[in-house]
Amino acid sequence: MNFHIAKGVFDILPEDPDPQGAWRQSHLWQYVEKTIREIACEFGYQEIRTPLFESTDLFKRSVGLTSDIVTKEMYTFEDKGGRSLTLRPEGTAPILRAFIEKNLNQIAPVHKFFYILPMFRYERQQAGRYRQHHQFGIEAIGNHSPLQDVEGIHLLWTFYERLGIKNVHLHLNSIGNRETRHAYRIALQEYLKPFFEKLSPESKERFQTNPLRILDSKNEADQNILKEAPQILEFLDAQGKAHFEQVCHLLKKIGIPYQINNKLVRGLDYYNHTVFEITSQELGSQNSLGGGGRYDGLMKEMGGADLPAFGFGAGLERVIQTLLAQKAPIPSPSTPLLFLIPMGEAAALKCFEWTCALRKAHLPVEMEMSGKKIKAAMRMANAMHARFILVIGDEELHSGEATLKEMATGREESLSLDLLIHRLQDAFQKNT
Ligand code: HAM
Repeated sequence: MNFHIAKGVFDILPEDPDPQGAWRQSHLWQYVEKTIREIACEFGYQEIRTPLFESTDLFKRSVGLTSDIVTKEMYTFEDKGGRSLTLRPEGTAPILRAFIEKNLNQIAPVHKFFYILPMFRYERQQAGRYRQHHQFGIEAIGNHSPLQDVEGIHLLWTFYERLGIKNVHLHLNSIGNRETRHAYRIALQEYLKPFFEKLSPESKERFQTNPLRILDSKNEADQNILKEAPQILEFLDAQGKAHFEQVCHLLKKIGIPYQINNKLVRGLDYYNHTVFEITSQELGSQNSLGGGGRYDGLMKEMGGADLPAFGFGAGLERVIQTLLAQKAPIPSPSTPLLFLIPMGEAAALKCFEWTCALRKAHLPVEMEMSGKKIKAAMRMANAMHARFILVIGDEELHSGEATLKEMATGREESLSLDLLIHRLQDAFQKNT
């Protein structure tokens, strides 16, 4: 019987035989994840990992009952004890759940978390949209200041910059507080009423349930209707306005270009004030590299302290695809420094001892372990991109000397085996 991978998910492999699957190579993921860890550390964020599934109610109550995630996309199942559980579709709600449950507010002075975790959404399959995707995210809890918003945006901006990704655009908006959104909702419905019959079926549905989401409709007719629609920024109160102005001011100060996009509302219900998205042209219609914003009321709504918060989530699949599309410089995957080829059983035992000793000295070493003839073993060393090879037979064992060959240059060096470790350590450290 042949088994196939489930729809909308993918394997991450050392090498992917499918030419379209270059982004699924594990060394790219390791490089991006390493960069994340470096930057998160520089910005003072600590790693958090939450379980793959949570109670279904957690997502219903936080992400929002009318959101696409809750209405259409959750992987929900009943466990053997009759509990309704859901595979994590996003990272914010579980982190607040952990924060409240573990009383982290009382324990640590800094509440700045980052995560690299898989998320699960039952999406229509298309390029850039997967049923399991991976997010790099941050959640910074407890700070009201616009400085926090800009620190978060700066962190994500730095991530793309350090990876060498170009032509990214920061879209920025504010959706104010609850009163702002209530007043705006009424104004938007009033404006849209005369056009109701001309709206797309999806927008008609959202007219009552979540009219703000009509703003990010992809339908051209909807967008034409919206051209003269009232703008949410005009509904901000003095405090909301001051917060937004300060965010814009700080972004200018640190040289991050942005464009205000008054139709940006985001698809999860918990946001207020600042919302943002970073896009790349390389990604076609699924062009959002990452996005997030402030969610000051969520912690309290979930039964915790009344603490403000700011965060974002950024899809790793899309980052890696953009890296490749833009031919950004990517470090080569690590390869063996030395490939040992034994000729005969006695040599194989000796080579194995050396392999263990060299690995103990932290050197990446491989040996041929299946008794291949010299030609086949050399082909293997080549395929692995080994830097040096060393062939050991009875003669070498006898004399205690062998010839170290550098594959790229063909340069050969006769060495006593005792010196081998030092020579290789030297080559590895100095890359000479
Ligand atoms: P989100 O906009 O739903 O936000 O997802 C964040 C990012 O994850 C998107 O910008 C996109 O890059 C990626 N993404 C989302 N869905 C998929 C998918 N099906 N396939 C591939 N990539 C995808 C959130 O999830 C919020 N929790 C972000 C946040 C954190 N806000 C505050 N804190």
